[in-house]
Amino acid sequence: MTAAPIEAVDAREILDNRLEPTLRVTVETPGGIGRADVPCGRSRGDHEAHDLRDGDDRYRGRGVRHAASNVEERIAPELLGRDATEQRTIDACLVDLDGTPTKTELGGNAITGVSLAVLRAGAAATGLPLYRYVGGADAHVLPLPFFDLIEGGELAGGDLPFQEHQVVPVGADSVSEAVRMTAEVYYELGDILAAEYGEASLNVGAEGGYNPLGIDDPREAFDLELRAVETCGYEGEFALAADVAASHFYDPETETYALLGESMTRADLVGFYEELVDTYPIVSLEDPLDQHDFAGVADLTDRLDVQIVGDDLFATTPDRLRRGVDRGAANALLWKVNQVGTVTEAVEAARTATRNGYAVQVSERSGQTPDTWLADLAVGLDAGQIKTGVTRGERTEQYNRLLAIEADLGDAATFGPPGETLGR
Ligand code: PGA
Ligand code: ZN
Repeated sequence: MTAAPIEAVDAREILDNRLEPTLRVTVETPGGIGRADVPCGRSRGDHEAHDLRDGDDRYRGRGVRHAASNVEERIAPELLGRDATEQRTIDACLVDLDGTPTKTELGGNAITGVSLAVLRAGAAATGLPLYRYVGGADAHVLPLPFFDLIEGGELAGGDLPFQEHQVVPVGADSVSEAVRMTAEVYYELGDILAAEYGEASLNVGAEGGYNPLGIDDPREAFDLELRAVETCGYEGEFALAADVAASHFYDPETETYALLGESMTRADLVGFYEELVDTYPIVSLEDPLDQHDFAGVADLTDRLDVQIVGDDLFATTPDRLRRGVDRGAANALLWKVNQVGTVTEAVEAARTATRNGYAVQVSERSGQTPDTWLADLAVGLDAGQIKTGVTRGERTEQYNRLLAIEADLGDAATFGPPGETLGR
């Protein structure tokens, strides 16, 4: 018996937080409707699924009408009558139908939208909240958030080379406490920045973190964050972390990194990280080296006793992650479903990570909407970690959803990754 036969699949062009087009896909079954908005990165890796754009006059070529018509004219006929709860079968069908390694035929954005909308329709048909549909009866772990309080790199207009300077409320006992404590630190940091760097520093970057002007040294950003933490009386309750996104200041010709006015070799940069980790309470570094440098990341993972997260390095792709596991490159996976394109492949990447002792950090994209499937998937996957920016509605809605799940779970909820990881 087909529990939730798909009766209709449609896609429309909507706008994301950057006023750029993206897709909203709707899947209808007699048991309920599933709808999902597709995120899109700015600081994209080389190995991600293809983001199909129209390339015509509209929206400077960023329209997604082709992707929408691929959903309605090429994908929908294949899915009608299939059971929306058969996620694996449907995702396999999407992969086959596309037939290319990075989903260039139908568009990674088209496929991601359908895959997520099918997931939502399956949840609706079974009457379960999304986190429970994905995580089962035992789903109960609320993720520890990494808050990008100071932005740089591709996501901001200032001179900081690292993309995200994160604070991690490792001393919090719950996600609601983590959010409250960090909000207080955020307000305090705003006061410090306004007083010392001018009000313009309160402008925020793509993920809603501050964008201070006149700073080009990540250590200064970390110092400011630690001052705000101390002023709030939270010394020792917060650790620090960074998404370096090092590919953006790497020159493959000279094999050097442009940092702090110098051309650094890989060895120089590794030395800089060793000093950073010795000086600051840093627990996690994301994409610390160029996204193709598995050997370098393996060496760094070996040298530093912190979490090393692969974002552009792995692109949430099971094959690339296995390559990393074989070489000992990184010890955590950044999990972005649209990097690979289907829920099934992304879940396989997360399972591969966990089976090999790698942590999983569920992540937003710089372009997204207030749709909150991300928060549910973080709980459903038992990831234990999330990064989803700071301010702006498309970020705060993820926190609001986590707070609702926490309330829903009541006493059953636990918080953060297991054991003493990340200095907790
Ligand atoms: P993106 O950036 O969403 O623009 O790719 C976020 C990140 O690099 O983690
Ligand atoms: Zn990243």
